[in-house]
Amino acid sequence: MKHLLGIEDLSAGEIRDILDRAAYYAKSLETGKWDHKTLDNKIVITLFFEPSTRTLISFDIAAKRLGASVVNWQVENSSMRKNESFLDTILTLNQMKPDAIIMRHVEFGAPNFVAGHVDCPVINGGDSWREHPTQALLDALTMEREIGPIKDLTVAICGDVAHSRVANSNAILLKKMGANVRIVAPAFLMPQKFPVAGLETFTSLEEGLPGADAVMLLRIQKERMKAGQIPDDAAYHKEFGLTLERLNMAGRKAFVMHPGPMNRGVEIADELADDRERSLIAKQVAGGIPTRMAVLDMLIGK
Ligand code: NCD
Repeated sequence: MKHLLGIEDLSAGEIRDILDRAAYYAKSLETGKWDHKTLDNKIVITLFFEPSTRTLISFDIAAKRLGASVVNWQVENSSMRKNESFLDTILTLNQMKPDAIIMRHVEFGAPNFVAGHVDCPVINGGDSWREHPTQALLDALTMEREIGPIKDLTVAICGDVAHSRVANSNAILLKKMGANVRIVAPAFLMPQKFPVAGLETFTSLEEGLPGADAVMLLRIQKERMKAGQIPDDAAYHKEFGLTLERLNMAGRKAFVMHPGPMNRGVEIADELADDRERSLIAKQVAGGIPTRMAVLDMLIGK
């Protein structure tokens, strides 16, 4: 593995190796014991063109937990504000010889383009609605730790699937690892094309939830919708918002997941977002650190 651009590029064996390494770091973070110098003398650049709390900060912390230094490039303070092109920016940063670039971009395939122009590994922190590989990996880590082996699970991915890179990366990962994957979305948010074969599709929660072990919600991504497409929040919640009662249609033991940021009262009811027994959302956030430690270690560790 030279870069991490998408789950699409990984074999089931490579996914297994990353998840095993992530599980190792999850345990290590509890005991405080791991090699804090794994990334000694390494410098990684974070290059985010879209807002981020979880992904950006957890990559930063993961790199520092392994001893790397992190340079946080920000578009507002960069020479792109003086009309330097994207490619010239990348070529300039490459000349400074970073050990890795972690990036998020609004354009489909931007990390793949960058990987073709730099000498170091590129890690995709989300591109357009294409892929968000570390989100799917941390979701898989969370499910394995909290529910059970991926191959035994039925996972319902629900909501704004059409605009979601999280849905794409998760659907690909879960299928590669042998899970049953359902896509549950109202017709206007159902994608026309799927990134992987063998997904079951449903247009209502009533049909799509029964028997699911995990219900993975997605944020309604208004910034990616055309004017006429934007749903009314209250109407959406009534039709498609997950409440505790609706989660129970999946099963009394089913869990809710969400990559964040959440729209409370839209795709998820407040009570459920804060439900400690049925929500894995906080665990997903925590799982971002060991997962990103694993990826950094495997790409640039000693
Ligand atoms: C997501 C993203 O930006 O892709 N958030 C995340 O990284 N945890 C999902 C979203 O924005 O809805």
